[in-house]
Amino acid sequence: MAKHRIALIEGDGIGHEVIPAARRVLDALGFDAEYVEAHAGYEYFLDHGTSTPDATYEAVENTHATLFGAATSPTDKPKGFQGAIRHLRQKYGLYANVRPTKTRPVPGAFQNVDLVIVRENTQGLYVEQERLYGDTAIADTVITRGASQAIGQFATRLAMTRRQQLTVVHKANVLPVTQGLFLNTIMDEARLIDGLNLGTMIVDNAAMQLVRNPQQFDVLVMTNMFGDILSDLAAGLVGGLGIAASGNIGDQFGIFESVHGSAPDIAGKGVANPTATVLAAVLMLQHLGEAELAAKLDNAVNRILEEGPRTRDLGGTAGTEEFTRALIGML
Ligand code: NAI
Ligand code: MG
Repeated sequence: MAKHRIALIEGDGIGHEVIPAARRVLDALGFDAEYVEAHAGYEYFLDHGTSTPDATYEAVENTHATLFGAATSPTDKPKGFQGAIRHLRQKYGLYANVRPTKTRPVPGAFQNVDLVIVRENTQGLYVEQERLYGDTAIADTVITRGASQAIGQFATRLAMTRRQQLTVVHKANVLPVTQGLFLNTIMDEARLIDGLNLGTMIVDNAAMQLVRNPQQFDVLVMTNMFGDILSDLAAGLVGGLGIAASGNIGDQFGIFESVHGSAPDIAGKGVANPTATVLAAVLMLQHLGEAELAAKLDNAVNRILEEGPRTRDLGGTAGTEEFTRALIGML
């Protein structure tokens, strides 16, 4: 019997290209796993009337971790459609969205960046409670003490395994009730930790500081939408979405995915960069306690990024297949 059971969800668009590539890479790495393939996303919804079938829940629940490709969420939401990845995050209480940003050998990257954005993953504005009253649209934002405590503790623990520095990013100056609860709850938790270098920063300043001096940061924690936006910004500092990975982590389950979406502009063309999904697999390996395999894969990715072939998003000419083969060759 294989040591690990892994659910694989391709999802939509380039998910069909990057997940098979990542699986081949994991095989070449010698990762001892049995895979359970499952469906989720907009394409599945169009064919079957649901974005997430029961078999997908079973796959997530009966495996040790899930590797997820990408899911489309159309701006013009059809009736009955539920964004697949947001739904899974909610259903399984995957409250921590962990998005590391690290300098890798790619052209134009900021040097010496090594930070992690920890995004609260289940609340904030993304509870998707919107209403229209005539010409007025209202969206709820939900912040609870419990969820803020959980994400605060997660971020604090993570910071203590790194450079012991935590920045709480917020907008409590304008939204003292919701953002204030988030900020104060985390500050109360984090102040109790000996040796933690704790700071706060207002989100708009954080956006500017990330661009001007990203090296000052270690771990940053923030509410859902701020984390969504700033983590793409951070990805842009070091080479873009083609190499940005994330983990959705709860007390029981973990779903690992790229930061990018389904990339309809390039889907089906064989040019998607699978690195983001491969690096999501690195986070998955770390989560599964396979530190050695994780390090080996991470190093192989860096060597390929340095020596080539490079995909088009990083200024090269390689397609998904050529890049994947080169990475497999390196392993
Ligand atoms: P996107 O992340 O899909 O693409 C943004 C840009 O980056 C595009 O030009 C795309 O070609 C490029 N890109 C993304 N991944 C790449 C890769 N691996 N290799 C090379 N180039 C890559 O964001 P977009 O276009 O705003 O959204 C498309 C769909 O994806 C939407 O329906 C959106 O809702 C969804 N989405 C889903 C996410 C998820 O599943 N977690 C995250 C972000 C968007
Ligand atoms: Mg996003």
